[in-house]
Amino acid sequence: MEIFEKNDKRTHYCGTLSEKNVGESVCVVGWCQRQRDLGGLIFIDLRDRTGIVQLAFDDNTDKAIFDKAFSVRSEYVLCAKGIVRPRGEGAVNDQLATGAIEIAVSEFKVLSEAQTPPFPIVENSTTNSETRMTYRFLDLRRPDMQYNLMARSQISGIARQYFAENGFVDLETPTLIKPTPEGARDYLVPSRVHPGCFYALPQSPQLYKQMLMYAGFDRYFQIARCYRDEDLRADRQPEFTQIDLEMSFADEEDIIRLNEGFMERIFKDFMHMPLKTPFQRITYAEAMRRFGSDKPDTRFGMELCDLSDVVKNCGFSVFSSCIENGGSVRGINVPGGASMSRKEIDSLTDFVKTYGAKGLAWYKNAAEAPSSSFAKFLSDEETKAILDTIGANIGDLVLIVAAKDSVVFDSLGALRCEVAKRLNMIPKGVYNFLWVTEFPLFEYDEEDGRYYSKHHPFTMPMEEDMEKLSTDPGAVRSRAYDIVLNGTELGGGSVRVHTVERQKQMFTALGITEEEAEEKFGFLLRALHYGIPPHLGLAYGLDRLVALLLGTEDIREVIAFPKVQNASELMSGAPSFADCAALNELHLQICSSEEEK
Ligand code: AMO
Repeated sequence: MEIFEKNDKRTHYCGTLSEKNVGESVCVVGWCQRQRDLGGLIFIDLRDRTGIVQLAFDDNTDKAIFDKAFSVRSEYVLCAKGIVRPRGEGAVNDQLATGAIEIAVSEFKVLSEAQTPPFPIVENSTTNSETRMTYRFLDLRRPDMQYNLMARSQISGIARQYFAENGFVDLETPTLIKPTPEGARDYLVPSRVHPGCFYALPQSPQLYKQMLMYAGFDRYFQIARCYRDEDLRADRQPEFTQIDLEMSFADEEDIIRLNEGFMERIFKDFMHMPLKTPFQRITYAEAMRRFGSDKPDTRFGMELCDLSDVVKNCGFSVFSSCIENGGSVRGINVPGGASMSRKEIDSLTDFVKTYGAKGLAWYKNAAEAPSSSFAKFLSDEETKAILDTIGANIGDLVLIVAAKDSVVFDSLGALRCEVAKRLNMIPKGVYNFLWVTEFPLFEYDEEDGRYYSKHHPFTMPMEEDMEKLSTDPGAVRSRAYDIVLNGTELGGGSVRVHTVERQKQMFTALGITEEEAEEKFGFLLRALHYGIPPHLGLAYGLDRLVALLLGTEDIREVIAFPKVQNASELMSGAPSFADCAALNELHLQICSSEEEK
């Protein structure tokens, strides 16, 4: 191994060299992508985060250097100095940015040797996820991962710059806090000096950013780590990052305009494409009615159609009794879907069952011999009325769910996306942003038999719905909004309650007793007595934003060291057992579950 010395510092990144540099004396450092020994000629592809450049060793190379190059293996760390020269005739590689040149090496060091890596360091890895995560530092050497993380850094940079330009103050909020009520489970941290007491890791900086508004900072911004102990999904990690903001003396129009400007900036500076603003706005009620989802993907049609009126008196009891019981019958029309096989339709039936639907009624409107799961129970006129209402043409497939509204929306909302995916109906390169507004303030939990905040308990209700607060809380709309991109919730926020009376009303409506409110939010209630400005805010999921812009659905592809399905981090082995001394110091004892015993 040789020593990295002062004059071994790089003059150029590998991937930046081109014909413009021919004749220059350069120094490059990086990893050996591969070494090719062609007898009297050795080539090494040297890789750094910008790309690859070819090092050439031949008859003119000093014998000791040539021998050293001979011994180099993949992933050795090298330093090479030499002259940039054009490649020989027929040796130009059009696939490589630096493919027209090579470096004729005159000085050469092996700075570090490497064992054979467990998988090749190449683009588009087919290595299984577990191995990739265990050797994440090697996985991150792969060019696509390098690109993803550098893109992430660029997008965070644009965010910092944009919000600073707009007068937002970049402030950190604490990460050892009292729990914030965002709805997920908290990660708890035991206190050594307060036996039996715990901090929570923040699910978001919510209360603190509001406090910064109370304090008069007027505009706050932070790229904030958040922690939620919830089940992992492709777009959910226990530890994730928000672009978080809050502003005073402003309303929904201001925050919407500001954030459309932010997206325009990202599209201009990062995506290098224009973005049409203003974005479409749609109320929660309309989103559910038309798309069965509060984060509709509007890149394709197949909107939901309410068939309840058409079928309410029909002879098919699955339809009619569902309506009698307060549910609805709705469907989607799949253009060209009549070509789907029975097997494919059966798999769609299984798909909707995972959303609580009991079944999927279907009508294949084939030109010859149409077939259906329900037509035999209806008159020809009734079937025709369904097809006419839903707008089915010859060759289309009608899919219908009858159930209570929440199940109908969930299942058809998901089915619409699933069918669009399977039938390749989603156009590439289209970015459909929209704002979803007027979310319900509360959500009823049937298991607990009570209402919970849909967003959080500091969300302002819509003034015109206030009278329903005590009589029909489920019907009260809030001044909350989400920003949605291609069917993913990118961010969400709301106008906040800023008076003590209104905040108390909210707690009462949620069934939070005065003692409970005092215990959990006493500091907030007391603070509300001291001249609080009207304010509102928004937080984006940075991981989701970057993933969508890079065209991946899995946020692990844009997070350096993500957790796997069971919330562990495979490279370091977190979480791990704590030793007894540490537990004692924290006044903790581990009780094993019955199963473990
Ligand atoms: P919310 O809970 O909607 O709002 O979160 C804001 C955004 O954060 C992202 N997000 C996640 N990303 C990855 N993994 C997760 N587990 C995860 N959970 C949420 C989503 C989401 O839209 N304090 C409020 C914001 C506000 O009112 O200003 C909040 O956290 O993209």
